[in-house]
Amino acid sequence: MQLTINPETIKGFLHPDEGARLYDLAADAARRGPCLEVGSYCGRSTLYLGTACRKHEQLLYAVDHHRGSEEHQLGEEYHDADLYDAAAGRMDSFREFRRNMDAAGLSDTVVPIVASSPVAARHWNTPLSLVFIDGGHSEAAALADYRSWSTAIASGGFLAIHDIFPDPADGGQAPWHIYQLAMASGLFEPLTSTLTLGVLRRC
Ligand SMILES: C[S@@+](CC[C@H](N)C(=O)[O-])C[C@H]1O[C@@H](n2cnc3c(N)ncnc32)[C@H](O)[C@@H]1O
Repeated sequence: MQLTINPETIKGFLHPDEGARLYDLAADAARRGPCLEVGSYCGRSTLYLGTACRKHEQLLYAVDHHRGSEEHQLGEEYHDADLYDAAAGRMDSFREFRRNMDAAGLSDTVVPIVASSPVAARHWNTPLSLVFIDGGHSEAAALADYRSWSTAIASGGFLAIHDIFPDPADGGQAPWHIYQLAMASGLFEPLTSTLTLGVLRRC
């Protein structure tokens, strides 16, 4: 895996081992079709996925309204003042995201979709070889992401979900709940997880 910039220079929440796994999954998937992520933030996961897509001259759709999740809002635990647009009174990670994609040379590979995930999905009909879900972590947001995008995954494609914590003592439960939904659907088989990254394959 050869990244053009150091992922640690991109603000974000992804462990390097999880990033390397995303790269490997996308390097396999991108031979068959485009990939999509929900929740790009400043582009750390996008760097791994996009670099693998570029290798196969494939596209990565990067869905994020760039207004931050619950925990990024003013006064919340993961608020970053650098990403706060004081004039608008809102979070805005898009400028930083685009700067990072330009620096990584990924502007012709990554297609940003600056919209909420269910809105972006409303008329979607392109089969996807990989979907990575790392958007809002409320039950409602995670469920909407799962319902919006899991049906677009082609047979043999991957569904990767970040922040899987089977034990509630370790973290929020919504990503784990949609992972369980995918399992119960009978449409996916589980693959090995990497730290908090759950991975399934569409049957
Ligand atoms: C945990 S961060 C993503 C981290 C990123 N994957 C990384 O590697 O650093 C979650 C992102 O999801 C976005 N988000 C939350 N809810 C969303 C929604 N309903 N539609 C689109 N984006 C959403 C937020 O704006 C935020 O940037």
